[in-house]
Amino acid sequence: MKIYYGGHSSFMLESKDRKILIDPMMLEGIPDGGINLIALTHAHGDHMGDAAELAKKNGCPVMAVFELANYLAAQGVETADGHIGGKLHFDFGWIKFVPAWHGSSLDGRYMGMPCGFIINLYGTTVYHAGDTGLFGDMQLIARQTPVDVFLCPIGDKYTMGPEDALKAVELVRPRIVIPMHYNTFPPIKQDPEAFAASVQETAAGTEAWVMKPGENRSL
Ligand code: NI
Ligand code: MN
Repeated sequence: MKIYYGGHSSFMLESKDRKILIDPMMLEGIPDGGINLIALTHAHGDHMGDAAELAKKNGCPVMAVFELANYLAAQGVETADGHIGGKLHFDFGWIKFVPAWHGSSLDGRYMGMPCGFIINLYGTTVYHAGDTGLFGDMQLIARQTPVDVFLCPIGDKYTMGPEDALKAVELVRPRIVIPMHYNTFPPIKQDPEAFAASVQETAAGTEAWVMKPGENRSL
């Protein structure tokens, strides 16, 4: 699998002939064509980006919880809806909606619950936590499907900060953790290298990848 980091919480996962784009607010280094699916964790602007336009351009669906999917469908976007706990099956594997402790609204309108995603792309498992605080059920979620790559917010203020993110890594026990949702704006300024060092020190078996926007890596 090839992982592209577009910046903030934006990632593209590519394996064989399939490309999944998550929270496409920033697309640095991410080719915006040939996308098969766009997954949205919630409706906040720093995650949605131009998801509707991108979906139309690529002729692909947007996966989101029921309320957000309905909002997008009303704009003529093809959607793949579901809700927390539900798993959608695709030709490449499956994606499950999992909880995230946050909000989700757009211009004051309620957009349903925010979520994270467990993505199984041709057998490799990625957990995109969305925007969330730390919660103990991360352990339960990861116990059901061992996580290869954990995309974990560390920005603090609106999500977990580095200390809670380290606890999350201890609960999820991924092979690789990639910090996200930091340094995009001054209030979420963090030192990702310090976070990576703390992972190395305390979470045996987990490697931390600090990716720069525009970078991609393969596993
Ligand atoms: Ni948010
Ligand atoms: Mn956010």
